[in-house]
Amino acid sequence: MAKGKTTVYFCQSCGYESAKWMGQCPGCREWNTFVEEQMDKKSVRPSGKRREAPSEPQPLSAICLSDEKRLSTDIKELDRVLGGGIVKGSLILVGGDPGIGKSTLLLQVCRNLSQKGCAILYISGEESLQQIKLRADRIGEFSDSLKLLCETNLDEIKEVIDRRRPQIVVVDSIQTMYQEEIASAPGSVSQVRESTGVFLQIAKGMGITVFVVGHVTKEGVVAGPRVLEHMVDTVLYFEGDRHESYRILRGVKNRFGSTNEIGVFEMQETGLSEVENPSEYMLSGKPAGASGSVVACSMEGTRPILLEIQALVCHSYFNNPRRTATGTDYNRVSLLMAVLEKRLGMQLSDCDAYVNIAGGIRMNEPAIDLGIVLAIISSKTDCIIEDNTICFGEVGLSGEVRGVSMAEQRVQEARKLGFQKCILPQVCKEALSHMDGIRLIGVRNVKEAWEAIRQPFSAGT
Ligand code: TYD
Ligand code: MG
Repeated sequence: MAKGKTTVYFCQSCGYESAKWMGQCPGCREWNTFVEEQMDKKSVRPSGKRREAPSEPQPLSAICLSDEKRLSTDIKELDRVLGGGIVKGSLILVGGDPGIGKSTLLLQVCRNLSQKGCAILYISGEESLQQIKLRADRIGEFSDSLKLLCETNLDEIKEVIDRRRPQIVVVDSIQTMYQEEIASAPGSVSQVRESTGVFLQIAKGMGITVFVVGHVTKEGVVAGPRVLEHMVDTVLYFEGDRHESYRILRGVKNRFGSTNEIGVFEMQETGLSEVENPSEYMLSGKPAGASGSVVACSMEGTRPILLEIQALVCHSYFNNPRRTATGTDYNRVSLLMAVLEKRLGMQLSDCDAYVNIAGGIRMNEPAIDLGIVLAIISSKTDCIIEDNTICFGEVGLSGEVRGVSMAEQRVQEARKLGFQKCILPQVCKEALSHMDGIRLIGVRNVKEAWEAIRQPFSAGT
């Protein structure tokens, strides 16, 4: 081995560094993700330092915020996830599975900003200029302030940026960029980190906003975007089912705004279009009068989203009953089924159970517990929950239904969409004043919740 070079092993999934090869990564518990990389000792330097920053310490009062004005992308769903628009000089990572629509979204951002006259440089390491042109033709009109560059060599890219000084740079994708001094292949952890470091310097040093695309990789030798999450200001992930047309953009980290906000898009012939009322959209395929289906409400950041939870409980012919949870946490579903078994005496241990959040969206908020519970009860007892009913609430281990935050927004969203009955935690009901047009049914535990869905039959209404 040449002097000054060391061999290290990196987990391509989370970036864990190790001196020796390991089968399982201690960081993220993935198997077979370690890949050998050569590190040149000279090239390893702490990236992300502001070269042009003054080394003199400054008092807070001397720091001027006038430059921190946000630039709107004219895509409301994206602006919301970004916390109100693009902050100058920020480094934004857009991650997601290949083919989900990252390049399309960023090209649409380029279209809107170029029409406003912003100087933009779109660097593509994946597609040729002709391919980008084909895509752009589907998306709309572009002004000439958008410049395209097909290049993967970082030194060349740095030189172009230095010369042209654009306001916005889009890098598609970070896994194709490479620096010559680093021995390992493009897409390896050291290349990806080093490239991000270069773009971080460009962003902070020159005040250029940089969008970086990162593919999520299930396996293989390409480092995933998780290895650079800590270096960037904002991390957005594109989620969605390949078979569904809509896509969810989720803010995972944001130094300039709240996280957990989501933006909802639909992939169409002419690119991504915004979905202004996601609840309506999510509920569009809900079957009427079917057991095992209920509408629940989850808060995504500041926005309530109504979604359909489906459960199918049937007799199991296996020793270990099958359980699946699609779109929500598997362990949570098992726990809730154990609560039902113990607190309601419902025989579930010999049943297969499949729980699904319809539409391929992922929701992990505890407030959907009550929805999961009611969907399971409904399927098990074949009791149909009325279509005009919605529920939310967290379920505890003793079967109690606990209060959740922002109950008023949830009820209002349900009322807006025409729901007439809302099953909610008793504490939330007490805190809410009377609302016209929707009946609030407060429940203290899962038993009362069960009563609430049985009521239409027992009361004969
Ligand atoms: P793309 O943005 O290339 O994905 P990524 O950059 O995340 O890999 O999206 C590709 C998919 O989007 C592809 O399957 C085609 C589809 N698409 C449309 O349906 N309509 C469009 O207008 C465009 C541009 C793409
Ligand atoms: Mg792409």
